[in-house]
Amino acid sequence: MDNKKFYISTPIYYPSDKLHIGHTYSTVQADAMARYKRLQGFDTFFLTGTDEHGQKIEDKAKDAGVTPKEYVDNIVAGIKDLWKLMNISNDKFIRTTDEYHEKAVQKIFQKMYDKGDIYKGSYEGLYCKPCESFWTETQAVDGKCPDCGRPVIKASEEAYFFKLSKYADRLLEYYEAHPDFIAPVSRKNEMVNNFIKPGLQDLCISRSTFKWGIQVPVNPEHVIYVWLDALTNYITALGYNSDDESLYEKFWPADVHLIGKDITRFHTIYWPAFLMSLELPLPEKVYCHGWVLLEGGKMSKSKGNVVDPVVLADRYGVDTLRYYLLREVAYGSDGVFSNENLINRINNDLANDLGNLVSRTVSMVEKYFGGEIPAERVPGEFDDEIKALAAETKINAEKNLDELRFSDSLTAIWKFISRTNKYIDETAPWALAKDEANKARLAEVMYNLCESIRIISVFVAPFMPDTSAEIRKQLGIGELKNWDECGVFGKEATFKVSKGTIIFPRIDLEKELAELEAAQKSAEPVNPLKEEIEGVAKIGIDDFAKVDLRVAKITDCVPVKKAKKLLQLTLDDGTGTPRTVASGIAKYYQPDELIGKSIILVSNLKPAVLCGVESCGMILAADAPDDDVKVIFVDGVPAGSKVR
Ligand code: MSP
Repeated sequence: MDNKKFYISTPIYYPSDKLHIGHTYSTVQADAMARYKRLQGFDTFFLTGTDEHGQKIEDKAKDAGVTPKEYVDNIVAGIKDLWKLMNISNDKFIRTTDEYHEKAVQKIFQKMYDKGDIYKGSYEGLYCKPCESFWTETQAVDGKCPDCGRPVIKASEEAYFFKLSKYADRLLEYYEAHPDFIAPVSRKNEMVNNFIKPGLQDLCISRSTFKWGIQVPVNPEHVIYVWLDALTNYITALGYNSDDESLYEKFWPADVHLIGKDITRFHTIYWPAFLMSLELPLPEKVYCHGWVLLEGGKMSKSKGNVVDPVVLADRYGVDTLRYYLLREVAYGSDGVFSNENLINRINNDLANDLGNLVSRTVSMVEKYFGGEIPAERVPGEFDDEIKALAAETKINAEKNLDELRFSDSLTAIWKFISRTNKYIDETAPWALAKDEANKARLAEVMYNLCESIRIISVFVAPFMPDTSAEIRKQLGIGELKNWDECGVFGKEATFKVSKGTIIFPRIDLEKELAELEAAQKSAEPVNPLKEEIEGVAKIGIDDFAKVDLRVAKITDCVPVKKAKKLLQLTLDDGTGTPRTVASGIAKYYQPDELIGKSIILVSNLKPAVLCGVESCGMILAADAPDDDVKVIFVDGVPAGSKVR
């Protein structure tokens, strides 16, 4: 990585559904990295945004009765609010509906077209609408999209194609020459073995069956494929193909594209091939992180507030959620979210380890020295050990962060936190405080504790910026300026501590889980049908047994003259005596359609005269959507059979 500038991006999010903690995980990682690099003095550019075109958005807007732009504006506002809440320090938020982006994408298309890398053809393939991806027969798995598992549909249309196949060898060569380009390496192997080696097909990069997209410059009937539109955001956001390309000159190529594993193919095959076509440098690294899953599978909307980052951040705090995500999900792997797991982490790592260390130290400095540590201090046993571990922790925290191993970096930091807690037990300040002769030693112990906590405030700053600031406030030291402050033990001459709020209060696990369950239940959307069914008075089996249901065959059917709604049915109910029933189904069936059909008859209903027809019983029918009614047919069952 360049040591002067650092450019990191998140994927740009679809403004279709509400974002959940899985999406938050992508952004929080990039934010931690951007903060770390800024603290290290890198001129940093951190980009995020929204990916707003495509059929899916067009369809959703239509359903909502608004224009696509109105639809996305509304959701994008919520996404921006979420990032604000999560303390995301992005330098730019790009929307693919921004005019500068749309213009630049058209120029990009034109460049590739002029170069001869784009041609017109006809597309026949399998299309996954939710993913907006085309698949070949061999790529689709049992007629389903290999990415999301939903059914694909056959699609055929005139379309523009990008000569992806032309770049297969160059891609392989590039991977070979740049072993760090795709991380973790398992993802690279997947791309090579599953996509490139079996043969890259040219890529369909235009659509003509919907309008919500950027127009193809050489043919206004077509819009540009959303992935070409979306991927180029990484350079258009820097002003590429605009009047001012200074940011592009400064920051491109990106140091890291941070993405979820599901979009690896787009970022490590398509995007590099587009860049090769444009003759632009490739990003240094594409890091494909794993997924945050729920016990039993993927995130799902039905899990409501359990996976809503706003609800979780409100309940437990923004830094807590950031910490949890960055600690729980190991490098490149999936992690499983559960409330229990989250609360255990809060109680153990945050309240017990970090929170306690800070509050115990601050309390002791206040109690023994009125908040200010005296200058006269005497070193002693264990001091060198914590100093050495502080230095070692800096090396480990950095090494892991440089490789985007957030969880490993936090593990190293927590080792230091635990060691510092142990230092309190080893030095037993409460015992030292009993004898005035130990005052200078007690002062040194307190100083070392405050220094360790100051160093911890640097270590945790990329992950938990507010917590870092609060710790420093309680220590009475200034704003954090530079990462290297964690490398010097003894930097602060003294401390003037003051007790603040408890940074991480403990949570009663049982009580909290019960409350969460209740909150989740009350947040579940009310299903009116469920309420209606549950509201109907219950009957015993004896009540039901009073109703005699039989199969009967319709042998004749005529309209009832005096009643437009009624049909007069003649039934064979198995007794040998024809039975007449009047039924209000004239609006839904022609008499001819019914003759010969077998239906279910309530045979012991008291006879009633309806518009001059004596009706002996009733036939069963169901309400159907759009005010329709469907008679229940049981063709093939002999007349007279009992229905139970
Ligand atoms: N719009 C595309 C990205 C285009 S980038 C040029 C997209 N958007 S998305 O909103 O569906 O996903 C955004 C990011 O969230 C992706 O990196 C995706 O992997 C990530 N995640 C979505 N669900 C996730 C989890 N459950 N866990 C972790 N990350 C997840 O893809």
